[in-house]
Amino acid sequence: MNTIYITGGRPLTGTLAVQGSKNAVLPILAATAAIPGRFVLTNCPAIRDVTVTRSLMEGLGIQSRESAGLITVDSQGPLQSVPDPGLAGLLRSSVLLLGALLARLGEAEIPLPGGCVLGDRPLDLHLKALKGLGVRICLAGDRLLCKGRPEGGIAILPYPSVGATENLILAALGATGPVRIIGAAREPEIRDLADFLTACGARITGAGTPCVRVEPAPLHGAAHRILPDRIEAATWLCAVAATGGTLTLTELDPAQLQPVLTLLGLAGCEIRESAAGLTLHAAALQAPGTVVTGPYPAFPTDAQAILMAALLRASGATLFRETVFSDRFRHVPALCALGADIRTAGDLALVRGVGALHAAEISATDLRGGAAMVIGALAAEGTSVIRDAWHLDRGYGKFAERLRALGADVMTE
Ligand code: EPZ
Repeated sequence: MNTIYITGGRPLTGTLAVQGSKNAVLPILAATAAIPGRFVLTNCPAIRDVTVTRSLMEGLGIQSRESAGLITVDSQGPLQSVPDPGLAGLLRSSVLLLGALLARLGEAEIPLPGGCVLGDRPLDLHLKALKGLGVRICLAGDRLLCKGRPEGGIAILPYPSVGATENLILAALGATGPVRIIGAAREPEIRDLADFLTACGARITGAGTPCVRVEPAPLHGAAHRILPDRIEAATWLCAVAATGGTLTLTELDPAQLQPVLTLLGLAGCEIRESAAGLTLHAAALQAPGTVVTGPYPAFPTDAQAILMAALLRASGATLFRETVFSDRFRHVPALCALGADIRTAGDLALVRGVGALHAAEISATDLRGGAAMVIGALAAEGTSVIRDAWHLDRGYGKFAERLRALGADVMTE
């Protein structure tokens, strides 16, 4: 979709099944390039980043088919080692093909990745760790020329980069000896990647902890169900918190969303768990205190804009500190156009609750910033117009349809 029209001021109410995680399915799709085999992935989200990744893989010689959330992949044929630069530049996770192709082929020519503009997004942690395992890497224009299977050894990450952890795990599948990653990211999506790879025969221990060990092992195809998307869940919960309704989410592991649930509870939402799922009932919100983003298990940076949008009318002031990305307040001007009172300075944003929000014509800046704008518009009086809504298609499947299912007045074109 290019433009979404939202007439706000209505409470959202209903039940939704959380979709499969974008940030789990993308590394798992990349992982199939490391292993000759046939794979069946279920609970896959119907999102553009998956479509782009499948096209990238097809260009390498990996066929896949998708139907109703089930993706079959066949990576048994001969592979190319050079992903299409145009497609690779559309998303950040294309860089994970580096680890996968090194494992499979012992070489790769990787175009620099794209993805949401959130400030600097270098690859130094990926490259330094891989070079430390003996991989020869040089930058030629906007491509990374990589040669050599990783040697066994220890890879140290001074910052728990999600992508660097995933790239190292994938490269280690083809290493000449065991690889230990120290300082690994602990996100649930990394555990899901490890669960998938273990089903493929990989010997991985410690996934989800700061110390992950991968031992070379014979690998084969497998079936895997993608874990639910905790950030999509946060999006729906914050949308309902902003509009004053009641929402039940199924398919969600609340433990993976604990920091968001804690803050929504502190803001005054009633949250309970039952056999039906996780239910949030929104009330008049008050500022929950300070929100500091960080690597898992801290408050997720991907939920920062989303929670900020939910708190625009909360009584009191909420201070946000964004510690993960250098420029992740790009959604703030659009929220202010809706009538929000937000001041930013460096990595801080102070949100003072206002009595009411009003419609505006705004443009999405990135995936989660766009979602935040939708949430703001849902809480605003009048009809807002959000352009560049294609950002949302990258990570939210059937977004407008699911909003309508909750009672939102939404049109798209
Ligand atoms: C993953 O991005 C997610 N994307 C992001 O979600 C998420 O925000 C991020 O992890 C943090 O949780 C996918 O999984 C596809 P990082 P990634 O490497 O791997 C710096 C969304 O909205 N860094 O953990 O790129 C980097 O600049 C997206 O779904 C280096 O300095 O995140 C950033 O400031 C947005 N050098 C910080 O680390 C490096 O070599 C975290 O980056 C790598 C990263």
